[in-house]
Amino acid sequence: MSMTKGRRHLGHRTVGAVALALALVTGGFLADTHVRGATPVSAEEAAQAQQATLRELADQRGVRMGTAIASHHLNQSDYARTAAAEFNSITHENDLKWETVQPQQGQFNWTNADRIVEFAEQNDQMIHGHTLVWHSQLPSWVADGNFTPDQLRGVMRDHINTTMGRYRGQIDTWDVVNEPIGDDARFRDSVFHRTLGVDFIAESFRMARAADPNARLFINDYNIDGINAKSNAYYDLVRDLLAQGVPIDGIGMQGHLISGQLPSDIQQNIQRFADLGLEVMITELDIRIQMPATQQKLEQQARDYETVANACYAVSGCSGVIVWGVTDAYSWVPDHFSGEGAALPIDENYQPKPAYWALHEVLGGDGGPVDPPPTEEPTDPPTDPPVGDCEASYQVVGEWNDGFQAEVTVTAGSNLTGWTVTWSFTGGEGVSHAWNASVSSSGSNITATNVAHNGTLSSGQSTTFGFVGTHNGTVGTPQLTCASS
Ligand code: XIL
Repeated sequence: MSMTKGRRHLGHRTVGAVALALALVTGGFLADTHVRGATPVSAEEAAQAQQATLRELADQRGVRMGTAIASHHLNQSDYARTAAAEFNSITHENDLKWETVQPQQGQFNWTNADRIVEFAEQNDQMIHGHTLVWHSQLPSWVADGNFTPDQLRGVMRDHINTTMGRYRGQIDTWDVVNEPIGDDARFRDSVFHRTLGVDFIAESFRMARAADPNARLFINDYNIDGINAKSNAYYDLVRDLLAQGVPIDGIGMQGHLISGQLPSDIQQNIQRFADLGLEVMITELDIRIQMPATQQKLEQQARDYETVANACYAVSGCSGVIVWGVTDAYSWVPDHFSGEGAALPIDENYQPKPAYWALHEVLGGDGGPVDPPPTEEPTDPPTDPPVGDCEASYQVVGEWNDGFQAEVTVTAGSNLTGWTVTWSFTGGEGVSHAWNASVSSSGSNITATNVAHNGTLSSGQSTTFGFVGTHNGTVGTPQLTCASS
């Protein structure tokens, strides 16, 4: 699918009758809608006006297509209009976090959180509640508090009861516990884990069920989109929680991803959690690009959005996708990942990007207006096709005191029925455990061979394996050799 599409201003299109009526009552839409109605439109604009929004397509399919909202942008009409027209679900990007809602013990502040809930109600949108028990954006009175286990339980129960209670009947799904496991696949240090041990997770879910018996309760994290050590730890955790009767209904895979470096087994990973009986959601999708963005990078990003959305919508237990922001103008990515950006489907001028049209098509839309002739924009030099049997690339995806996690993507240069990747570590690194490959070491020399399900690759096809390793201070990028076996 080609993704080069004409420009148009999102939210000025004819939205569905209901959305339009709702838009009229929200006020901010009125002027623009009125002006648009009175302005002559070109043939191309008229054709675009017929196109469904992402929201309309998602509604037709009965799936969630959401976004994250910041209350302080809602007075901008482009922002509010796009958020209402394109998405059927809203998440508070920051305004429902503990530090905002209860900055001091017993002092609750609902101004910003309420504003978003009202916006969602006015526009007939679902709300995915984010988040209740999390080590981050936690006020210091909790994070640094010196609580006995019972005191901390009391603090948690009060926060959960008050917050969920306020929005009972309005917020149907909640990230109850966020990011309890670290990149090393072990339970993360936090006041909750320090004081209550791993039981803080089960206890949080029980408190949440009691606070709103009708809400669906999720655990949520990043880097669990594919099969890796961290998602394996989640798999074991939620299976055990379910076996103990802990009321957990779903798992959120955040989906903060890097364009061109998606795990190859996202659908398989979603499926295994759905097979446990859980609802799966992609809760915070963004796919970042090394800046500056070129047309070629945006096209790659579109394929990545297509991959993630397809992986979710192909699994019946996956209820939908939430993107982490309305527009590139306000995405958290440039502030948190140096040199990276342009991570969302809608650009900083509210123009649909190739990724927008990819989602449109995955949701059953026509993928946008007819392509204009190719632009003369310079493109990146083409990447060399793999030579020989196969080629392997190595990426360190996480690093901590004495450990790291890496992923290796194997791309077949001819049809393969098995492959072997070898390398030597030069900085004293070692492999402790691997997935999607069987790995052996002899001194610093490492040999990784396919497992049963990923040895057969047709020419051009890729697969990814990963491992957690140890290091003594240096984490290098070794030279890899790939051969058929
Ligand atoms: C991010 C927000 O987008 C930023 O504005 C804020 O500065 C930090 O938090 N995982 C989560 C989200 O669960 O709450 C985070 O949101 C992104 C990572």
